Amino acid sequence: MKHLLSEGRIGSLTTRNRIVMAAMHLGYAEDGYVTERFVRYYEECAKGEAGLLFLGGFKMHRLGGGGIGFLSIEDDKYIPSMKKMNARLHSHGAKTAAQLFHGGRYAFSFMMDGEQPVSASAIPSKLTRETPRALSIPEIHETIEHFAAAARRAREADFDAVEVMGSTGYLIAQFLSPVSNTRDDEYGGSLENRARFGIEVIRTVKRACGNDYPVVVRHSGAELMDGGNTIEESVKIAKLFEEAGADAISIQVGWHESRVPTVAASVPRGAFVFLARFMRPHLSVPVVTCNRINDPLLAEQILADGSADFIAMARALNADPYFAKKVREGRFDEIIPCTGCNEGCLDTIFGGQPSTCMNNPTRGRENELALVKSANPRKIMLVGGGPGGLEAARVLAQRGHRVTLFEKSKRLGGRLALSAIPPGREEFGNTVRYLDSAARRAGVEIICGIEMTPEKARKEKPDVLVLATGGITRIPNVPGIDNDKVILADEALTGGKPLGRKVVVIGAGGVACEVAIFVAREGRITPETALFLIENNVLPAERTLDLAHKGPHQVTLVRRGSKVGDSLGRSTRWLTLQELKNLGVRTITDARYVRVTDEGLLISLDGQQQMLEADTIIIAAGYEADPRLKERWAGAAPEIHILGDAHIPQKGIDAIYEATILGRKI
Ligand SMILES: Cc1cc2nc3c(=O)[nH]c(=O)nc-3n(C[C@H](O)[C@H](O)[C@H](O)COP(=O)(O)O)c2cc1C
Repeated sequence: MKHLLSEGRIGSLTTRNRIVMAAMHLGYAEDGYVTERFVRYYEECAKGEAGLLFLGGFKMHRLGGGGIGFLSIEDDKYIPSMKKMNARLHSHGAKTAAQLFHGGRYAFSFMMDGEQPVSASAIPSKLTRETPRALSIPEIHETIEHFAAAARRAREADFDAVEVMGSTGYLIAQFLSPVSNTRDDEYGGSLENRARFGIEVIRTVKRACGNDYPVVVRHSGAELMDGGNTIEESVKIAKLFEEAGADAISIQVGWHESRVPTVAASVPRGAFVFLARFMRPHLSVPVVTCNRINDPLLAEQILADGSADFIAMARALNADPYFAKKVREGRFDEIIPCTGCNEGCLDTIFGGQPSTCMNNPTRGRENELALVKSANPRKIMLVGGGPGGLEAARVLAQRGHRVTLFEKSKRLGGRLALSAIPPGREEFGNTVRYLDSAARRAGVEIICGIEMTPEKARKEKPDVLVLATGGITRIPNVPGIDNDKVILADEALTGGKPLGRKVVVIGAGGVACEVAIFVAREGRITPETALFLIENNVLPAERTLDLAHKGPHQVTLVRRGSKVGDSLGRSTRWLTLQELKNLGVRTITDARYVRVTDEGLLISLDGQQQMLEADTIIIAAGYEADPRLKERWAGAAPEIHILGDAHIPQKGIDAIYEATILGRKI
């Protein structure tokens, strides 16, 4: 970890290592002020030895947008609370930077008392479905001054640097790109003109804060937008920003409107580092790289091979604020992994709620969820080794209870472990591995492969019994459902039953979509084989890529309801639907299941019967609580709790949260 842990430098600023926390809107601010919740959240990152914390975005003007609980730096009144926060973060050796944010046409009018958003040009945004108005030249000059005033406040509040948000489709990026800038004045047209706004922001900020005050510029290495700047143009822009005074360029990727996933769990780790590698030889200031870097070995490799000077992590430090410290102490196995699932962070924020983390429910709840030793340590038996069972077991053991967990199968993780099987979902396996190892480290005795029963439990005499035995598969009541060709989602995923060529998946919630994608991809050639075939001209590249993309199965997804993937979070649903489409999966909604026959599934659609031919029919219609569980286990221990899906079917994030709360209550 020689590179990752070495001191870094951005202009006059030195950092204790090369791990920086990328800016995250967390939804913790109140009336724009930093709150105790916000400070506690970042204090963990500072204690956890991150080198530099990018905080924000900070809204710097009323028309700058932002979401619920957004921070503000648009007035001097915010300085004292920020100053106090910085003193606390600095006391733990971290450096801080304020991100100056203007959303432009990504701002919603309903968040700005109905005022129309502004942009380079009056071009509608696909993100907000609103049309902004073009800023006049005097307004552009005023906006530049707002950036400078915000930067001056940041300096007065003892931030060590500012970051100018110039990427992912926000105001500066809107000026940069021909997609959103059709101006014919000095701020539009040529690349130099489109870059003028960003350049003037940087120069004016430098002038306002002094040349020695470090300014980082966040910039999209690739817009991933049709008709947008090319990667080569993006390099030219970065060079112009450097000439204007940027002390570091932080390379991000994409716009929020682009249809290429950039943060989803299916994005390979470090997939966009190539943009920094491409950019770095053209620049003399440090380059920060980002996106889906959650592994210290990968981070070290990126620095060692010269792709970048700093590693920015947002969600990895959201999941584990002690990432850097654990790396320094060689405790790699103890790092709480970022799955890239977005369930606790991005999807929660999109739902207007404060951010947290599926794998680390204490994030954003640092004060609420402290671990307090039990005054009355007891013998506790947990039944079921899914995520909820493992999390509750860890917390209980850490609080001093004697905890044994029984899992009837040979593998831990329950439904979450199955979720990790479809391609692009492998990261979920890391959540299971982490929960398993964390529980063992806390002292939980884990016994797999033995089915605990109420009778056996009675003999063991636990003081407390926690049932986390999971839900049961919901089987639709359809004549012929016991046909041999009908299998359960779990059997399809684990390869327990072979799949025929024509496959019908019943259900279209998150699990059904995952299963459909899994089946559609099954039997495809590996990327290595594809490369081999292409390099040796065995098949044309396009045909080979098709073979690497999907297998031979024809998949149909059918459901009674009207929406596919309705249980998926906002940041992943569009992507899942896009994937189903790209894989040629046929989706049928609002169907009535009539009968399963040897031919397939007979459905009724708009009053017309239709046979969906199938060699295999997979039931993926969700799970339900076991209605007899309570009755069966009654009297097995003086105190019994039912947890997770066994109680009510829910998402992994909710099961882990429920478990962490229960673990603190017993
Ligand atoms: C909940 C959430 C909020 C974010 N808010 C911001 C923001 O305000 N400003 C910004 O530049 N990036 C923001 N990002 C993007 C991150 O800084 C980062 O670029 C992205 O998450 C990819 O990095 P990662 O894979 O390390 O998480 C946000 C990301 C998340 C998940």
